[in-house]
Amino acid sequence: MDLGLNGKVALVTGAATGLGLTYAEALAKEGVKVALTDLDGPGAEKAARELSQYSTVIGFGLNVASQEDITEGVARTVSELGGVDILVNNAGLARGRWQALSDLAFDEWETLLRVNVASLARLANEVRPHMIARGGGVIVNQSSNSAYFKLSNSYAVSKLAVSGLTIGLAEEFEPDHIRVNGIAPGMMTGRVPQEIIDMVVSRQVMKRRGRHEDLVGALLYLCSDLSSFVTGQTILVDGGAALRI
Ligand SMILES: NC(=O)c1ccc[n+]([C@@H]2O[C@H](COP(=O)([O-])OP(=O)(O)OC[C@H]3O[C@@H](n4cnc5c(N)ncnc54)[C@H](O)[C@@H]3O)[C@@H](O)[C@H]2O)c1
Repeated sequence: MDLGLNGKVALVTGAATGLGLTYAEALAKEGVKVALTDLDGPGAEKAARELSQYSTVIGFGLNVASQEDITEGVARTVSELGGVDILVNNAGLARGRWQALSDLAFDEWETLLRVNVASLARLANEVRPHMIARGGGVIVNQSSNSAYFKLSNSYAVSKLAVSGLTIGLAEEFEPDHIRVNGIAPGMMTGRVPQEIIDMVVSRQVMKRRGRHEDLVGALLYLCSDLSSFVTGQTILVDGGAALRI
């Protein structure tokens, strides 16, 4: 099925590995030109070389916590790939999951919220004029199904803020024909102890562990015109786990 994505340009953050790499690969396979970025610059360059078999893919370092990096990274994407149609705000810190909310110090809150929430808005702001120049665009923010469970840790709170940001930016960017949506994965990956995996799977409706590829359908739906009347939404892709709360 032709999704109409061939020739579009996407910037994906935190994409040297993990879910960001899965997203970058899925877009490249649709013929999207991808700026594959990560805090780990050499890792991004290596991943980009591997994905070049599918499309034009450039890889470079971009720390989403740095305004300078954001400005330079978006400018580089536009000058090397011709514009920006799609922003995938994937990079995020998983820290704070096992720490009580009241234990977190100011500097830890600041780092977490800077990377997991504020950077998404800064990147959106930076790509906005370039999307306007193309007549519109699409932004996909990475949330987590943690946001829909007990909010007793800072990671979950930050991811609920991502879903809130998605609604707010959808309203703010609508006049520019930029749709803003989110994906909230369940536990897909990670070096997680088996007892945690068993606990997570047991509370899902579907009794298997999530795979990276499970997220590709949601990503391509949100990036393409299949979702042309959808904005401000965060799609849960978690085997039905969040239904059980
Ligand atoms: N893996 C899961 O099961 C899962 C579930 C729900 C949500 N998420 C979310 O998905 C996103 C990716 O998670 P993952 O598990 O693939 O992570 P990961 O740790 O495997 O990869 C994260 C990537 O982001 C990069 N990164 C870290 N800080 C960065 C920064 N400041 N600027 C740019 N890049 C940075 C890292 O270098 C790394 O390559 C995160 O937002 C995470 O919260 C993951």
